[in-house]
Amino acid sequence: MEIELRGEAPSPRPGVLAVEPYVPGRSKLGGSGPVVKLSSNETPLGPSPLAVAAYAQAAAHLDRYPDGAHTALREALAAEHGLDPARIVCGNGSDELFHILAQAYLGPGDEAIYTEHGFLVYRIAILAAGATPVVAPERNLTADVTAILNRVTPRTRAVFIANPNNPTGTYLGADEVRLLRNALPVNVLLVLDAAYAEYVNRNDYEPGFELVSAGENTIMTRTFSKIFGLAAARVGWGYAPLAVAQAMNQIRSPFNLAGPSMAAAVAALEDKAHIAHAKAHNAEWRGRVTHELREIGYDVPESAANFVLIPFGAEPGRTAQDADDYLVSKRIIVRQLASYKLPHALRMTIGLEHENRAVLDALREFKDR
Ligand SMILES: Cc1ncc(COP(=O)(O)O)c(C=O)c1O
Repeated sequence: MEIELRGEAPSPRPGVLAVEPYVPGRSKLGGSGPVVKLSSNETPLGPSPLAVAAYAQAAAHLDRYPDGAHTALREALAAEHGLDPARIVCGNGSDELFHILAQAYLGPGDEAIYTEHGFLVYRIAILAAGATPVVAPERNLTADVTAILNRVTPRTRAVFIANPNNPTGTYLGADEVRLLRNALPVNVLLVLDAAYAEYVNRNDYEPGFELVSAGENTIMTRTFSKIFGLAAARVGWGYAPLAVAQAMNQIRSPFNLAGPSMAAAVAALEDKAHIAHAKAHNAEWRGRVTHELREIGYDVPESAANFVLIPFGAEPGRTAQDADDYLVSKRIIVRQLASYKLPHALRMTIGLEHENRAVLDALREFKDR
């Protein structure tokens, strides 16, 4: 049957068309042979075997809808961190939480601020809600509180900060985050994205518990995708003021987390030895990789997370693109960063010893060419 077309085809809202789709890090190479994949800040140690077993066991019940209230997961998180479970909101990855927040708090005419090299999903969530993204410049590859405050207008409704930030690895200390919160208008929601919090070992860092507990206008988001090794399971959570948690729960899809994923997350929380091992491995190799790259001559900024940023020059043959080509020729995948306004840098996730060594060797050879 032919359908006669009359008038215009449906068109999405203008903000939707302004979104440049998120391009994930490359995950495959052509040809054959093993690949060193350090492009997506995944843990090199994999998930806890307890989490895998819990996932498999829950997979026997795929005919049943999962618990849409995420009760067991919220209670496990509340017990772990000493929180009120009613203030915990779960998302299909923390990415979904940014979208839910934007849908609940932003609309046409509103502005939301994120930082120059901030995580790209914020921009997508802001535009998808019909609001206007406002970019605050960074200083020394770090979020700059003064620059953020200078961009606040009467239309500002939210500020998104990744702390530590991806892809720079830099972070804001607790004092600076507190300063930002105190200087922001009360009606501006501050979103503290602490996806890499478990990797931070600095005395002046606080992922967000304090500020969320202290007021009505800050939310902290967390993920099981990084140190817990459950990126494919898609489990994120937020600790929020009760009213924010309720607003988010009101609009989210009723069964947004899969049952096996929630079971895996609860079991992962219990495997303290696995988490401690992952943290120690990362701290050791983040230190070694940073030190060795600096010795070779790369000006690597200090990272608080599970990856490092590696800057390159602009000279033909020496650029980040040239380095990436060289790494790919050695079957090593790292992350290109042009979409993060860092076209002269690559990001490398901390891997297993032999993977880190492979990158260090290749980048030494690249420098000596
Ligand atoms: C800063 C930051 N926030 C959030 C996420 C998303 O995590 P999830 O897998 O929970 O959606 C990432 C993942 O790369 C990230 O780097």
